[in-house]
Order: sequence, then structure tokens, then C-alpha cells
Amino acid sequence: MLSVIDFIHTHRDRYVNELKHYLAIPSISAMPMHADDVVRCAKWTADEMTRIGLENVRLEHTPGNPIVYGDWLHAPGAPTILFYGHYDVQPVDPLDQWETPPFEATVRDGELYARGAADDKGQVFMHFKAIEAHLKQAGKLPVNIKLLIEGEEEVGSVHLDDYIREHRAALAADVVVISDSAMFDRGVPSICYSLRGLVYCQIDVRGTKTDLHSGVFGGAVANPATVLAQMLAQLKDRSGRVKVSGFYDDVRELTDAERDEWKKLPFNERKYRQDLGAPKLFGETGFTTLERVWGRPTLDVNGLCSGFTGEGAKTVIPATAMAKVSMRLVPDQDPDKIAALFEEFVKSIAPKTVEVTVTRMHGGKPWITEFDNPYVKAAGRAIEQGFGKTPVFCREGGSIPVVSTFQAELGIPAVLFGVGLPDENAHAPNEKLDLSNFHGGIVSAAILYDEIAKLKHE
Ligand code: BES
Ligand code: MN
Ligand code: MN
Repeated sequence: MLSVIDFIHTHRDRYVNELKHYLAIPSISAMPMHADDVVRCAKWTADEMTRIGLENVRLEHTPGNPIVYGDWLHAPGAPTILFYGHYDVQPVDPLDQWETPPFEATVRDGELYARGAADDKGQVFMHFKAIEAHLKQAGKLPVNIKLLIEGEEEVGSVHLDDYIREHRAALAADVVVISDSAMFDRGVPSICYSLRGLVYCQIDVRGTKTDLHSGVFGGAVANPATVLAQMLAQLKDRSGRVKVSGFYDDVRELTDAERDEWKKLPFNERKYRQDLGAPKLFGETGFTTLERVWGRPTLDVNGLCSGFTGEGAKTVIPATAMAKVSMRLVPDQDPDKIAALFEEFVKSIAPKTVEVTVTRMHGGKPWITEFDNPYVKAAGRAIEQGFGKTPVFCREGGSIPVVSTFQAELGIPAVLFGVGLPDENAHAPNEKLDLSNFHGGIVSAAILYDEIAKLKHE
């Protein structure tokens, strides 16, 4: 009889073909016009979970998109894993920059191109296939497992916290496992021990009742576009420091030990810059690039619009201007506190000539964990066997809001083992998943369950 791992090697091509069907569903949570697709994707997820042998599979309805739950709990005495992932994806614009259509997954040069390939359907699917291999080949799993696949991660996991709080007992587990992040680099598998948090706000500036003829009225009123630009320019100084009063008050400083560790990582700054196509890198003075994206908070304008932006020229003073601004947070910054400081600061620099409103959108807390716990070590051994290399420990600049909720509400550690890559184009055109990482990820996941199973017996 084939071993579970041999089974996985044998089914390599089938996995890619099945994943293509998953990736064909445009489950874009940010766009109401895709609401039906989101539900269709939740059902597909549930059907697949049933197909691979999970039990109690159901859609959990929330005021938003359904959460898909399923479990397999027939390993008495063994640890219980809570696996978390998301089936929703980001919008695909600008569509014309995709080399092949975002929802027709295509393999080129060992990479699978599609929206959601890496973030996060491909990585969720890895675990489905690892579970399937155990159940089909061994007839059982070495651990108990509960799966929670949500459909609102890309819009801030708005209903998930309540769901977790209401189902604390049902979700009880020993460890949370998540594959929704990237490896440090190609050939450098990693375990992530910290994520940044997020606060997302919209600033609206209104000058007048309606757009005005810029000749007839130019000079008599403030221009909301100009005012907004002047305000945005005051949010950050030229050394990359955020000027919002109190912004850095709760920032946990990086230790020298941690900074030293990061200096040993195989990071090539020149290549990083070239890959991004940036003429020169920019960030907070006094910190390296890795420190800036992993361990320091920042503020970015995510979108900006006002006035006439079509072809040609139109002489107009826009009535309004709008900007989307987000802040990435690090331990121990608190999203609620930062949002309040932001609003206060924006109001304090708003001139009396316009009306300024700040609307808070989604967000999430930063997360950091001690990484010398047995589950993280088990993940290290699994990755080592699946990829033939010892993983490095890294932080990530991105956010997964629910991770801190799991820690706070369920009181259990999380293991973040992602197989994406820094150049995977997540949220951008031509998102892709490296198929050798996908395969290594399935093998590692299958071994991870074995490694976790051994823990309570040690
Ligand atoms: N998978 C990402 C987060 C991520 C990316 C973690 C890379 C580590 C490395 C997730 O899907 C995501 O995009 N999160 C959003 C959160 C937001 C919408 C609340 C983010 O970081 O912008
Ligand atoms: Mn994700
Ligand atoms: Mn994402």
C-alpha cells in the first residue's frame, strides 16, 4: 500500500486540475455584484470538504458571507487542530494587465496564474488535499481537525470575531494552523511569527454644494483637491515618520537580538528594489527595509480621487475630494486608539474653508507570538521534510485580523506556515502560485498533522 506521502506524489496533477475549478469562481467579497459567486464558492468549498471525507460540513450563516465549517474528530487523545483560511478573493482590476483571464487558471513556467491562486484558495486547497490523502490512504487522520474557511477576510473579517466568540466551546482546539502568508523567498521556506495590524479610513472633503466653473469662481473658494493634498502631505514627513500625534506611543521597539537575526536572512535589497521597479526604496529613517515592513508601523494613501480625470481638459473646481488612508500597526498599537488619534489629527489640520469627515472602515490588531512552542517546532520539522530545508523565522507586513482573535478568545497558539512568494502578485494582476511550493505545501501539511499528533505522546 502506498504511504500517505506517496499518494500525494501520485496525485500531483489531479490536484492542480481540481484547484482550477475552485479558482474559476469569482468570489470577490468586496463587490456586491459578486454576492452570488461568493455563496457559490462557499458551497463549492463545503462540497469539496465533504468529498475529501470531512464531517459535519455546513455553511454557517452570518449577517455577511457564509463561513464554511467541517471537522473530523475521531482521534481520541490526540491534539485538535483548528485550521483557518479564506475562500474570498480581491477584485481583479486593472483587468487589462492580466496576461490570462483571472478566473481561468493557467499554468505557465511552473506557476498557476489566477486570482486567489496564492491568496488564499490555493493554500487552503493544500490542506484539503493533505487531509484527503490521510483519509483516503490511511482511513484516518492522526489528529482531530476543525476547519473554518471564511468569505470575508479580504474585507476585514467583519463577522468572524462574533462567530468565534459565540462558538468558543465548539471551536476549542490546541493550535490554530493557517496557510495564508508567503515564504521568505523562493527556496527559503519560513514560519511567520508576527503580522501587522491595520486601521483603514476614508477622508472626505467637501468645499461647495456642487462643482464650480473654475474661471467664474476660481480664487473665491478653497479647492477640496488642493486642501486634501495639503492635508495628506502632513500625515508623514520626509523621513517617513507618521506625524499623527501619539501614533508611536505604544510601539514595541525591536530588540537588538531580533534585528541581528533579520540581518542574517538572505535578503538582497538591490534585487528587491529591481523586482518592484522602484527607482529608489523609501521608508522610515534609521531602519532597514525588513525592519520597516515587518517591525515598524506605517501609513499609506491607498486611493485618491477628485475632480475631472477623463481625457482632455475641463475647467472645474471639484465640490469634493476623497482619499482612502490605511495604517499598518505593530505590537502593541491598538486599532481603536489609533483610529481615534487619526481622526483627531485629521480634524486638527483641516482648514475652516471645507468640511472634512473621517470614516473608519475595517481593521485588525497586530499579532506576535513566542515561537519556541512545541507546535511551531512541529511545523518546522514538517516543513523541513516537505521542502528539504530548515525554515527561517520571519514576520510579515500583511494582516490577518482573526489571528489575534484566536489568541485572545481561544487562548491557543497559531502556526502560520505559508507557501506564497514575495512575487506572487497577491491583490495585483497576474497573481500566481508556484506549483512546486503548492506540492511541497501539501506534503508538509500532511506531515504537520503527524508531527502534531506526536506531541501529546512525547
Ligand atoms: N493573506 C493576506 C495577508 C498576508 C499577506 C499575510 C502576506 C502575510 C503575508 C490577507 O488575505 C490580506 O490580504 N489581508 C488584508 C487584511 C485586510 C483586508 C483587513 C491585508 O493585509 O491588507
Ligand atoms: Mn489571504
Ligand atoms: Mn489578501
